[in-house]
Amino acid sequence: MTSSTYDPASEGAETDFAKRMSYGDYLALDAILGAQHPLSDAHDELLFIIQHQTSELWMRLALHEIGAARRAIAADDVQPALKMLARVSRIFEQLNGAWDVLRTMTPSDYTRFRDALGQSSGFQSWQYRLIEYTLGNRNAAMLKPHAHDPAVTAKLEAELANPSLYDEVLRLADRGGIAMPRAVLERDVSETHRVNEAVVEAWRRVYEAPEAHWTLYELAEKLVDFEDYFRRWRFNHVTTVERVIGFKRGTGGTAGIGYLKRMLEIELFPELWRVRTVL
Ligand code: HEM
Repeated sequence: MTSSTYDPASEGAETDFAKRMSYGDYLALDAILGAQHPLSDAHDELLFIIQHQTSELWMRLALHEIGAARRAIAADDVQPALKMLARVSRIFEQLNGAWDVLRTMTPSDYTRFRDALGQSSGFQSWQYRLIEYTLGNRNAAMLKPHAHDPAVTAKLEAELANPSLYDEVLRLADRGGIAMPRAVLERDVSETHRVNEAVVEAWRRVYEAPEAHWTLYELAEKLVDFEDYFRRWRFNHVTTVERVIGFKRGTGGTAGIGYLKRMLEIELFPELWRVRTVL
């Protein structure tokens, strides 16, 4: 029997989905595959749309994992959090690889449909902002592009009231005997945590004796690993943007490359990078 004469029914493969849930039903493929609506007849617009949509899907999973990791850490259940954070790094690795597909689009290709985007931009991605807020990069001014959407604004505002992932890690360390400064443990969590020398010292104790603090050490390295991949995402983004639009302003209204280069300086877990210098 060749593959062209194979009959799925002969091995019992299900072929009647008139009354049963099929693959497409389970995955809501009609909704997903029906959600690409190019506004121009430019060949590359479909690539641009799918690249953003798949990124948003991966961000959805990243939020699911980071949120669960944070809850596990708050409950002193670190092992599952390690697994989830490792997965988040792999998600970002996947997103990093995806830039190679988008880079096949030249400036001439993009110019054919850029006007159709109007003012829309990834700058208005609420999931991206929620990821940043959850990790601890918290700028309430970034709520403004979402003011027209009360449900999204409520979601982002609710996140600003939660301790960030890094706050929960510092609290876990403190509970485990690596004392953290009170000012950090009791800080206003709606703002971005700023580098604190006493926290660097606390991490130094962990990094100088990994075997005595293995779980915290492993967790800290998972965070560094993740931030490393996130930095690469930002770098890939800014390089792709420069390659495609040069120094034009963004559709979202920022200076474009100038803005994105400033964002390369973001530090999510600053003391974990500083501790390397003092070892
Ligand atoms: C040719 C492709 C792309 C170009 C030219 C581009 C351009 C830009 C520019 C200029 C900005 C700054 C804000 C603005 O003024 O618009 C920006 C922000 C952003 N873009 Fe892209 N982008 C591209 C692809 C993507 C893709 C595939 C994603 C994936 C979701 C993405 C996500 C974002 C996000 C999340 C921001 C906000 C970054 C921040 O605030 O730190 N972009 N983009």
